[in-house]
Amino acid sequence: TTRRLMPAEITAMKGRAPVVCLTAYTTPVARLADTSCDVLLVGDSLGMVLHGLPSTLGVTMEMMILHGQAVARGSERALIVIDMPFGSYEEGPAQAFRNAARLMAETGAGAVKLEGGQHMAETIAFLTARGIPVMAHIGLTPQSVNTLGGYKVQGRGHDAARLRADALSVAAAGAFAVVLEKVPAALAAQVSRELAIPTIGIGAGVDCDGQVLVIDDMLGLFTDFRPKFVKRYAELGAQAAEAIAVYAAEVRSRAFPAPEHSFADEVKK
Ligand code: KIV
Ligand code: NA
Repeated sequence: TTRRLMPAEITAMKGRAPVVCLTAYTTPVARLADTSCDVLLVGDSLGMVLHGLPSTLGVTMEMMILHGQAVARGSERALIVIDMPFGSYEEGPAQAFRNAARLMAETGAGAVKLEGGQHMAETIAFLTARGIPVMAHIGLTPQSVNTLGGYKVQGRGHDAARLRADALSVAAAGAFAVVLEKVPAALAAQVSRELAIPTIGIGAGVDCDGQVLVIDDMLGLFTDFRPKFVKRYAELGAQAAEAIAVYAAEVRSRAFPAPEHSFADEVKK
C-alpha cells in the first residue's frame, strides 16, 4: 500500500528532480494523473475551465471542497494541494486558518495554496506554525486581475525587485514551494537559485524547480483562449467535438444504435 507524498518531500526534491505538478478537478482525471505527477493541484482555475466563470473571482469554498473531495477519491500517491478561493483568506491570518483548516479537513488535501507575496507572509507563517503547509503563488496572481490590470507578465524591468522580495518573503514565512506565474525566464532562474524551496513555474521558463499546467489547457479541452505558456499535448476537445458530431449524424440517420447495442426479447440461457 502506498502513501501520499508530503509537502516536506516535495521541498526535498529541490536540486534532485523536477517537481511534476498538474491541476486536477475530478475523480477520473485524478486517476489518470496520480502515478505520473508528484502534485495534483485542485486549482481555482476550475471556475473558468469547468464552470464557465469569466475569472477565478467567483469560485467558492463549496466548489473547492466538492472538487477536492473528487480528486482525493481518484488518487492515492500524489500530494493534493488545494487553492484557497478569492475572499477566503485575505482578511487576515485567523480567517485564512479557519478556511484552510476546513479545506484540508473536508477534502483530505495535504496543503493549501494562496496568492500573494510580501503582504501574505504573515498569513503563511501563521498557517505553517499551526499545521497547514502552504504553497505560495506569486508573479501573475489571477485573483488580483482587477488590480493588476490584466493577465500580464510580472517582474519585468524595475518590477523584478518586487518579485524577488515576494519570493524571499514567502520562503522565509515557511512556504514549502512557490508557484511563479508568467515571470521572465531569467528572473525565474535567478529566484530559483536564491530560494531553498522549489519554484513551480507556469510561464516562467525552463529553469524552475518544477512545472505546473492546467490540465484542460494541455489536453486541448479548454480552448477559449490559449496563453503562450501552454503546450498542447493532446487535442481532446477537437476529438470530442468530432465524436459528438458523428453520434448526432448516426442518430439522425438511424445508424445508431445497431443490433449489438440493442436488447432482444428473450434472455439468453
Ligand atoms: O488555479 C490554478 O490552476 C493555478 C495554477 C495555474 C498554478 O493556480
Ligand atoms: Na489558482
